[in-house]
Amino acid sequence: MAATARTGRAGRPTLAVVGATGAVGTVMLQILSQHADIWGDIRLIASPRSAGRKLAVRGEETEVVALTEEAFDGVDVAMFDVPDEVAARWAPVAAARGVVVVDNSGAFRMDPEVPLVVPEVNAHAARIRPRGILSTPNCTTLSVIVVLGALHAEYGLRELVVSAFQAVSGAGRDGVDTLRRQLSLVAGTELGTRPGDLRRAVGDDTGPFPEPVVLNVVPWAGTAREDGWSSEEMKVRDESRKILGLPRLPVAVTCVRVPVVTAHSATVHARFEGEVTVDKAREILATAPGVVLFDDPAAGEFPTPADVVGTDPTWVGRVRRALDDPTALEFFVCGDNLRKGAALNTAQIAELVAAEFP
Ligand SMILES: NC(=O)c1ccc[n+]([C@@H]2O[C@H](COP(=O)([O-])OP(=O)(O)OC[C@H]3O[C@@H](n4cnc5c(N)ncnc54)[C@H](OP(=O)(O)O)[C@@H]3O)[C@@H](O)[C@H]2O)c1
Repeated sequence: MAATARTGRAGRPTLAVVGATGAVGTVMLQILSQHADIWGDIRLIASPRSAGRKLAVRGEETEVVALTEEAFDGVDVAMFDVPDEVAARWAPVAAARGVVVVDNSGAFRMDPEVPLVVPEVNAHAARIRPRGILSTPNCTTLSVIVVLGALHAEYGLRELVVSAFQAVSGAGRDGVDTLRRQLSLVAGTELGTRPGDLRRAVGDDTGPFPEPVVLNVVPWAGTAREDGWSSEEMKVRDESRKILGLPRLPVAVTCVRVPVVTAHSATVHARFEGEVTVDKAREILATAPGVVLFDDPAAGEFPTPADVVGTDPTWVGRVRRALDDPTALEFFVCGDNLRKGAALNTAQIAELVAAEFP
């Protein structure tokens, strides 16, 4: 599906970043400044609250404009980094004006006419887009899927068990602000000996989380779904199945919010069609695009969120064969939820689309 750029510098496609002022949008502007400069004009769009603000992209101060139909005039590709309801309303508006939309929200991920794309795993899916919309997975799915895709291509995935440890920036600016406020409330206090201590110190100020997240772990992320599952857990199951093309893959996920600002991590138990070996798995992971194998526990080498924040790849360590099952692997993954988990994957998809422009 070749396309022709409408406007922009040197005939290059024009890009819009919708939600440029948010947690993901901010990282998107950094990525656009760091990646090869393939875009003509870059238009920054947010809510009317932010109209007139100036943000730096590619070393230039660029004014933010409010989200309106006209804001898409002359735009070729638009990245949407806005809440679900805003994307649900506005992505079809942009697509109807001929814009290819790459949406970061959850609004279209499971729409059968919207490809869910992870370039390292299913780049081919980006070329067929009946609604003019492409979708990028949830940050927790993205923290495991690049590694799983590489192992699946070799071994054939048969079952998946994930425990995800989600950073507070996964809940946007509000999540980060909440952890910072709570840190200041507990600084210097004696906590951890009586039930309710932390609740009393933090009060009702739990932000987007159901419990205090500072000095704590909260086994809940998202909203309630059937039979005790959370929306984040269902997203990992449904999205992994769609991306890997395995609609009946058995998947069990537990999502836990942890007091980490940025970078999600997860333990993974993956069972395959036949026997696996750790040596072969390491070989696959050491050469897989977008993956860094960092795995020498005897030398203190395994990834942690503090090490991987701000980096692009998915890091994997603690690779072991399951003790009681020669067809299964255990490992630990870590990735920046705002980079590969959101902005970077979106930028990579947009770059795939841009490559279609002559
Ligand atoms: N955070 C993550 O790790 C992560 C990972 C993957 C996907 N996502 C998804 O990415 C999207 C953005 O998340 P975020 O964490 O960046 O959220 P955020 O920090 O709350 O930012 C939201 C952005 O959307 C804009 N916005 C809100 N309401 C709007 C409206 N009515 N019209 C136009 N713009 C509006 C905001 O503009 P103003 O500043 O003007 O209000 C802001 O730029 C969400 O769908 C989220 O689920 C997030």
